Amino acid sequence: MKISVLTLFPHMFAGPMGESIIGRAVDNNLLELNLMNIRDYTKNKHKKVDDYPYGGGAGMVMQADPIFNALESIDTKNSRIIYMTPKGKVFNQDLAIEFSKEEHLVFLCGHYEGVDQRVIDHWVTDEVSIGDYVLTGGELPAMVMIDSIARMIPGVLGQKVSYMDESIYSGLLEYPHYTRPSEYRGMLVPEVLLSGNHKKIEQWRMDKSLEITREKRPDLYKKYKKL
Ligand SMILES: C[S@@+](CC[C@H](N)C(=O)[O-])C[C@H]1O[C@@H](n2cnc3c(N)ncnc32)[C@H](O)[C@@H]1O
Repeated sequence: MKISVLTLFPHMFAGPMGESIIGRAVDNNLLELNLMNIRDYTKNKHKKVDDYPYGGGAGMVMQADPIFNALESIDTKNSRIIYMTPKGKVFNQDLAIEFSKEEHLVFLCGHYEGVDQRVIDHWVTDEVSIGDYVLTGGELPAMVMIDSIARMIPGVLGQKVSYMDESIYSGLLEYPHYTRPSEYRGMLVPEVLLSGNHKKIEQWRMDKSLEITREKRPDLYKKYKKL
């Protein structure tokens, strides 16, 4: 999968997108990450990317021209162009699954008051929010989405790890995990997990998943029970 990101702050992606599972996915060419600095696509000598809003009011608006130039410099055929915005559809696992099937995703990160509406009208296929709160820029939301989408690309997670068994995707919240030692400061690992009896372990995990989901997310529990 290829992901292009249009941002004024490409260096923000270096850490989160360069480490651990996502970093390895990039190193192993499972994910191609194309970071584009919108400022590089300005035609004015001061590399100005924003201006005052027509009609007045506080804050600055990102201008259309550098963003149009940046988008015209890449192949956007067969691409979803996603504008990160609190006005968008709220991101969830179903949307992550849908986006993970695409060939090319383009993330447009806003800043200040956001981007000139003509960019959205002309280019954007999806307006997406990561939740009902306002952040200073679209970079963190884009990284949240890229992380959750990229881990579903075949080969990105280790062979034994399946995202399908995890919380939300499975329809339930996941059971608790324990690792060595079996006793820590007097706290014991549940006996069944040490038994080697896979059938019983599976049953225990399912019971715990149901119990935790019913307690913490009654909405998910009801939905799961109806299936
Ligand atoms: C300060 S916000 C602009 C908010 C905008 N004036 C409004 O009221 O809808 C600056 C940028 O941060 C990003 N952003 C902020 N909150 C977000 C959220 N919850 N989800 C996705 N992007 C967000 C968007 O790219 C937005 O253009």
